[in-house]
Amino acid sequence: MKPTLVSLSRNELDLAHLAVPLQLEELLAGDGPWEVEIGFGKGRFLLRRASAETGGRFLGIEVARKYYRLAQKRMRKQGLGNVILIAGEALYLLSVALPAAFASVVHVYFPDPWPKSRHQKRRLFDPESVDLVIGLLRPGGRLYFATDHLEYGDLVAEILGSHPAITVSTRQGLWEDGPRTNYEAKYEREKRPIVRLEATRSGEAGDDLIHPLTRRSLLAAARLPGS
Ligand SMILES: C[S@@+](CC[C@H](N)C(=O)[O-])C[C@H]1O[C@@H](n2cnc3c(N)ncnc32)[C@H](O)[C@@H]1O
Repeated sequence: MKPTLVSLSRNELDLAHLAVPLQLEELLAGDGPWEVEIGFGKGRFLLRRASAETGGRFLGIEVARKYYRLAQKRMRKQGLGNVILIAGEALYLLSVALPAAFASVVHVYFPDPWPKSRHQKRRLFDPESVDLVIGLLRPGGRLYFATDHLEYGDLVAEILGSHPAITVSTRQGLWEDGPRTNYEAKYEREKRPIVRLEATRSGEAGDDLIHPLTRRSLLAAARLPGS
């Protein structure tokens, strides 16, 4: 795997030199709530949110270096000091680099649907990887999701709906703030149907963060004391 870079508003740091899980509070001081966007593309939504909510803190993850660089340039140009951009693979970063339960809001818009069955392990939302995404949310935190891949959207609704820590609803129509991302704006112009989901992690700190399908597939063997 190529080294992953963390970009702050002025400096760029090599993640290899930082402790993991990342000490986000040290990277971006303040007490504002954290919002995360996974797969931010050219950064339209994340940077707009960050400039509208100057008291909030924003973290974006994007695997495509050219989009990361573009968003980084825009972030600098706009003088935004409340954003961290990370170039890297989301599932890896969620597993290794990010702390648990720090985000008030997580946004995922038009993630790659990986329709071929041999590629589906790469999906951000399957019964295993969903736990990594949900694990970012603090109790009571919100997840916003959209896709134009209707079959994937229905599956994500089902996966979230059967998660013990989550309540989910399908949104009818556009967000109140209009199309959020470039893909959403394009698909809205083309009048493509879109599945939009809004989910909330339960408000209890000790809630069950393992999807039941994953739990059923876990096996463990151990010699019990005295046997
Ligand atoms: C279809 S585009 C959507 C971009 C943006 N969210 C939008 O709605 O305009 C999917 C984005 O997710 C990024 N992406 C795909 N897989 C990813 C992964 N595993 N980790 C991080 N980013 C990923 C892609 O590079 C791309 O920018």
